[in-house]
Amino acid sequence: MSSVLKISDLHVSVGDTPILKGVNIEIGQGEIHALMGPNGSGKSTLAYALAGHPNYTVTTGTIEVDGVNITEMEADERARLGMFLAFQYPVVIPGVKVADFLRHAVTNVRNPDRKEGEGLIGMREFRKELRSRMTELGMDHEFARRYLNDGFSGGEKKRMEILQLAMLQPRFAILDETDSGLDSDAVRVVSEGLARLSGPQMGVLIITHHERLLEFNTPQFTHVMLGGRIVETGDAALANELHSNGYAEVRKRHPQVAAEEAAAEEAIA
Ligand SMILES: Nc1ncnc2c1ncn2[C@@H]1O[C@H](COP(=O)(O)OP(=O)(O)OP(=O)(O)O)[C@@H](O)[C@H]1O
Ligand SMILES: [Mg+2]
Repeated sequence: MSSVLKISDLHVSVGDTPILKGVNIEIGQGEIHALMGPNGSGKSTLAYALAGHPNYTVTTGTIEVDGVNITEMEADERARLGMFLAFQYPVVIPGVKVADFLRHAVTNVRNPDRKEGEGLIGMREFRKELRSRMTELGMDHEFARRYLNDGFSGGEKKRMEILQLAMLQPRFAILDETDSGLDSDAVRVVSEGLARLSGPQMGVLIITHHERLLEFNTPQFTHVMLGGRIVETGDAALANELHSNGYAEVRKRHPQVAAEEAAAEEAIA
């Protein structure tokens, strides 16, 4: 059976402030979706809500994987169901080595019924797999011994993200990509890495302003977010249009949402 990640009428607040105002997206396994939209439109908020971040409260609506409502699930339960999230600003975990982090994560995802305290996947086979994935990604094996994201450069964090994807092989990957500070090599690493890893088994939601990321990963669906709503859905041509023309045309096509967006910005200022 092919899997589906279904987001229905999702409303999300941060504190008392409503940010998402009814988001609907359905991602099938094997599909690539792009999520675009101006700064502050709510893209990262959607990613955090999908991850189950405690500061992002779902006030209405549901997130489902194959009909199972995951809206209230903890982040680790979501991971066991095959969801993977990469954040715009990845966490640094000093004291936790990359290899140990990945061995735990991989064990939890591959043995979803594992009880607390039961053994991790075998060290030797894990090491072998990790090393071969690192070689494929052109990563120095020394990285496995470093603390997670601690002192990593922007490009190294991105490689780390793709390494996690390669090891975890999730059913759904949500990637919230930074658009600043990455040189074109780093963007290429992510872009090509993702293109190599995604396939009929993986559904991908790419949040990005980078044209190059989508060049290797042509989206079947492009969603445009404005003021906490998906105002348009199209194909790869829509992504290209937004890359060349920006969001002025989108705002013109949706004057009411644009007015709400402006009013919300006013309220914050
Ligand atoms: N933890 C938070 N505390 C306060 N406000 C927040 C928080 N998270 C999001 N917001 C607000 O929600 C709105 C949407 O932010 P979000 O980060 O989702 O936008 P975005 O579409 O990802 O923008 P960008 O393209 O700049 O990454 C903004 O007005 C932001 O200030
Ligand atoms: Mg963001």
